[in-house]
Amino acid sequence: MKKLFSILMLIHVVNSARILGFLPTPQKSHMIIHMSVMKILADAGHDVTVVTQIPYPDATKNYRHIKLDIPEILDSNFLVDVVNKPRPFYKLFMDMSEMVFRTSNLTIFEPQMQHLMANEEFDLVILGYFFNDFQIGVAAHFKCPIIINYMIQPITTLNDFVGNPRELSYVPNLFIEAKQPMGLIQRLKNFIYTEVIERILYGINDMEQRKYYNTVFPADKYPSYDDMKKNVSLVLVNHHFISQGPIRPNVPGIVEVGGVQLKQKANPLPKDIQDFMDEAPEDGVIYFCLGSNVKKGMVSDDRAKSIFNVLSKLPQRVIMKWDEHDVPGVSKNILYKEWLPQDDTLAHPKMRLFITHGGQGGVVESQYHGVPMVGIPLFGDQKANIANVVESGFGLKVDYTTLDEETFSTAVNEVLRNRKFRDNVKKFAELYRDRPQTVQETVRYWVDYVIRHRGAKHIQSPLVHLNFIEKNNIDLVVGLAIVLYIIVKVIWIVSRKGVRWVQKVKKE
Ligand SMILES: *[C@@H]1O[C@H](CO)[C@@H](O)[C@H](O)[C@H]1NC(C)=O
Ligand SMILES: *[C@@H]1O[C@H](CO)[C@@H](O)[C@H](O)[C@H]1NC(C)=O
Repeated sequence: MKKLFSILMLIHVVNSARILGFLPTPQKSHMIIHMSVMKILADAGHDVTVVTQIPYPDATKNYRHIKLDIPEILDSNFLVDVVNKPRPFYKLFMDMSEMVFRTSNLTIFEPQMQHLMANEEFDLVILGYFFNDFQIGVAAHFKCPIIINYMIQPITTLNDFVGNPRELSYVPNLFIEAKQPMGLIQRLKNFIYTEVIERILYGINDMEQRKYYNTVFPADKYPSYDDMKKNVSLVLVNHHFISQGPIRPNVPGIVEVGGVQLKQKANPLPKDIQDFMDEAPEDGVIYFCLGSNVKKGMVSDDRAKSIFNVLSKLPQRVIMKWDEHDVPGVSKNILYKEWLPQDDTLAHPKMRLFITHGGQGGVVESQYHGVPMVGIPLFGDQKANIANVVESGFGLKVDYTTLDEETFSTAVNEVLRNRKFRDNVKKFAELYRDRPQTVQETVRYWVDYVIRHRGAKHIQSPLVHLNFIEKNNIDLVVGLAIVLYIIVKVIWIVSRKGVRWVQKVKKE
């Protein structure tokens, strides 16, 4: 009976755990990923509190959203500045870290956060990560386990939290942009970048983090920074190694939840769009969208005309996200819409091509639905996203500066005509979706697992507790080298003595 009771208690604890999502990052794109995880947990019935710097439109349902009042330090102006005035890599890293530290420190001292820390208790903290390591102290404050959530594949600092091996001979560092398998030069770059440059940068960074940790979480009341760094239960990463690479071994403390922001099942489309797509000929439908940030007048009139001239001549039907009162031309095969649900539109079985500015969200959705792309990157990370699309064989790029009827038409027709693009992206989608459980189930299972087993210490890799010398067996190698040296030396001495003795005997 007692056992049954404690099992029921255990289930109860997991069913309604109090979870704090501490997401201090000011970037909206990061928030979309973090909030998707928090929403899954709220939908699963947990009592979820989210603390952030930015308001979130969907936040009213089912969970508490606390928007901190923080001056913008790391804002989009900084990013625009970075794009236009490139600075050396180390300088950029240092400048950005400094801003992250300052804004992170402010979030902790913000009155609402202080109130929360003084008056509430939690069973789990989920920390949105962006080089804000010292904030793991929030879990020390609430004396509960901590899970880190990250937007892309795990980087070195996150691997170190859970003891994920570096495997530098065949696992390229994200930032050196190398592909597997690596040749000698790439391995050299990988080694130097990870073992020298990153060690120095992260070392300096870590000293700063320690300073912040010690002022915010003083030693007389809290466990040390080093102890907390060894106390991270899991790292959730928005990545899928099997389909995206690089192929690598992962410890149980790394859990992939790639695509957590994507809908499992499409919602019904607005009727006019649904009919327009359903009634399209076998050639299918093209979706054209240059993003929500692209304001009226951003695409010059002559380019808009070129785009119209090409699309209006195609046998496909075309849906264009465009200002309905300022269209570049009227054609029976084109439907202009100021707004439409992008993900659900891309999910339609007749969708053949996505013409995109290359925003991360749209590109991922297109890949997920197996739709090839023509990219017209405009700014920011769009260039890199489209470069990746081209390199992976999912589509082609058109330079905005040289966009005219000819360049645009060539790219659009090539992607429509050549099955290679569609096959590549469809194959990717198939691999990306092929998993033992849905992303939602994975998030729920592992978060509950950590709560159920109070931090799940037993799945932690022993690597977390080894120092540099032990990790790399340096003591062993040096020890063996000394022993070998002594053996060789002894043999040498003995044989020399032996030779001399033999010579002496011969002489006599
Ligand atoms: C590590 O986390 C667990 C909960 O997961 C907590 O009980 C423990 O006190 C933490 N250890 C340190 C040194 O903070
Ligand atoms: C963090 O903010 C607090 C409160 O504003 C301040 O007292 C402290 O010096 C800051 N920490 C660092 C390392 O700057």
